[in-house]
Amino acid sequence: MLIRTETKDDFKHVFNLNYLAFEKRDDEAKLVERIRFSNCFIRDLSLVAEEQGEIVGHVLLSKAKIIQENGEKEVLVLAPVAVNPSVQKKGIGSNLIQEVLRRAKDLGYGLVLLIGHPTYYPKFDFQPAKQHGIELTQFIVPDDVFMVCELIEGELQRTNGELRYPPAFFR
Ligand SMILES: CC(C)(COP(=O)(O)OP(=O)(O)OC[C@H]1O[C@@H](n2cnc3c(N)ncnc32)[C@H](O)[C@@H]1OP(=O)(O)O)[C@@H](O)C(=O)NCCC(=O)NCCS
Repeated sequence: MLIRTETKDDFKHVFNLNYLAFEKRDDEAKLVERIRFSNCFIRDLSLVAEEQGEIVGHVLLSKAKIIQENGEKEVLVLAPVAVNPSVQKKGIGSNLIQEVLRRAKDLGYGLVLLIGHPTYYPKFDFQPAKQHGIELTQFIVPDDVFMVCELIEGELQRTNGELRYPPAFFR
């Protein structure tokens, strides 16, 4: 399996992959398209997993901000991540997430946030965000599904405020 940066030639395959992975609904596939054409997109943080020339997985991190008393902090949000249902539970999702977090850290980002399954993400060092003083009001979700991963030590301690997802997440 190869993990690499997404290219233009991958776009339609990534659309189909997200459509298939999210139970043949196109909400996440369309979300990816909106993010790509917005200023929260970071080309190097849209990764695909390729197996025998086929796109079998995709993960996307994009720019968001935390509104703090002393100004705004740029952070990243992870959404979506998808693996073709025919090859799930073989580690492809984990490989994609680990690699995109590595790249995000290399780019200097300190925090990645997401809304996701509370049993899947802790193995990548995600933990509930609210207990670290990060609030979310744009989406009403249980506390344990709103999670944060600290890429740079000390970053959570320096952060306190409300996460704002970028406009691309809202139609
Ligand atoms: C979530 C997803 C990306 C994981 O990809 P994957 O390649 O199957 O993941 P991995 O093989 O690396 O990890 C599999 C592990 O995650 C668990 N897992 C898989 N999907 C899960 C889910 N939706 N919720 C919770 N746990 C899940 C498996 O039970 C397995 O557990 P293990 O750690 O005991 O082995 C994939 O299942 C998928 O595309 N799901 C549909 C889309 C989706 O829900 N995306 C996440 C929300 S943005």
